[in-house]
Amino acid sequence: MKSTSPLTLGEFIIDKQADFQYSSGELSRLLSAIRLASKVVNQQVNKAGLVDIIGAMGNQNVQGEEQQKLDVFANEVFIAALNNREVVCGIASEENEDFIDVRTGENSQKSKYVVLIDPLDGSSNIDVNVNVGTIFSIYRRVSQDGPVQLEDFLQPGNKQVAAGYVVYGSSTMLVYTTGNGVNGFTLDPALGVFYLSHPNIKIPTKGKIYSINEGNYIKFPQGIKDYIKYCQEEKEGRPYTSRYIGSLVADFHRNMLKGGIYIYPSYSQSPKGKLRLLYECNPMGFLAEQAGGKASNGFQRILDLNPVELHERTPFVCGSSEMVEKVEEFMKNAERNEKS
Ligand code: AHG
Ligand code: MN
Ligand code: MN
Repeated sequence: MKSTSPLTLGEFIIDKQADFQYSSGELSRLLSAIRLASKVVNQQVNKAGLVDIIGAMGNQNVQGEEQQKLDVFANEVFIAALNNREVVCGIASEENEDFIDVRTGENSQKSKYVVLIDPLDGSSNIDVNVNVGTIFSIYRRVSQDGPVQLEDFLQPGNKQVAAGYVVYGSSTMLVYTTGNGVNGFTLDPALGVFYLSHPNIKIPTKGKIYSINEGNYIKFPQGIKDYIKYCQEEKEGRPYTSRYIGSLVADFHRNMLKGGIYIYPSYSQSPKGKLRLLYECNPMGFLAEQAGGKASNGFQRILDLNPVELHERTPFVCGSSEMVEKVEEFMKNAERNEKS
């Protein structure tokens, strides 16, 4: 029997470098920095339940430092990993009002990549021991040499070079794409090594799971209300199952493997919904499409939206292609009915 040893993420990144003509290895180094940071954050997320106990002992951790909120910690770890390795020229994060111009080392000046990141997604779930994640999106800068500019970050999602997420769950996984399909790696916590566990992930074209915060039902647009009723109807394989964790990463990951749809629509107080285009919806949209799924704002493809601000929000519908198309159909019909 032929036995092959499992491929590690490190090996996979190097192997895939050959897919890019004239590759300088810069993207590989960038992905390796993310891989390292995610292991550090994973360690800390695993210990989250101990924070109160440690806090009771003087609010200090073992190094004698003040305990930090995990999303601040995750932000610092990812920024430090990207900064120290001089693999990017700029970083934008959910946790920072403005983008960061990375100009410390000689190499960073020359780097052509920018990273946008949600360092800890679903952070309200931390206290109750439920999955959280990290989301990242990578672009090539568009400005010429010199300090990174806002325009380098405000690119449509269809220009992404790579995107991915880490889900800190019952197992920790890193899932990413560089535009050649989606691959998932599971962390062996004893060895601190990610192994390729989910090669070439494909999202089923339809599924039986819908994920939406139904507590906001009354505030949703009519098209979304109609779609929810459609999901609940007893007809042609429905009702669907409702599953909502409240961590985009975890809800998305489940739907990706099982088939399903995730919706964060606009609602009366927030016409653009809640989720952020640049470091939540675009990366997830890129991954969904690379796995054969779709991502939309209800009317248009997410990846074709032209961002105007770093932290802008958008309604988000993402997952199995036939399910996303169905939502778009309901949205269009509702709009037509409102006009007539
Ligand atoms: P974050 O923790 O990065 O602020 O993101 C939380 C997001 C997303 O992960 C999740 O799906 C959504 O907010 C949940 O929002 P509601 O509680 O409004 O449903
Ligand atoms: Mn988030
Ligand atoms: Mn966050």
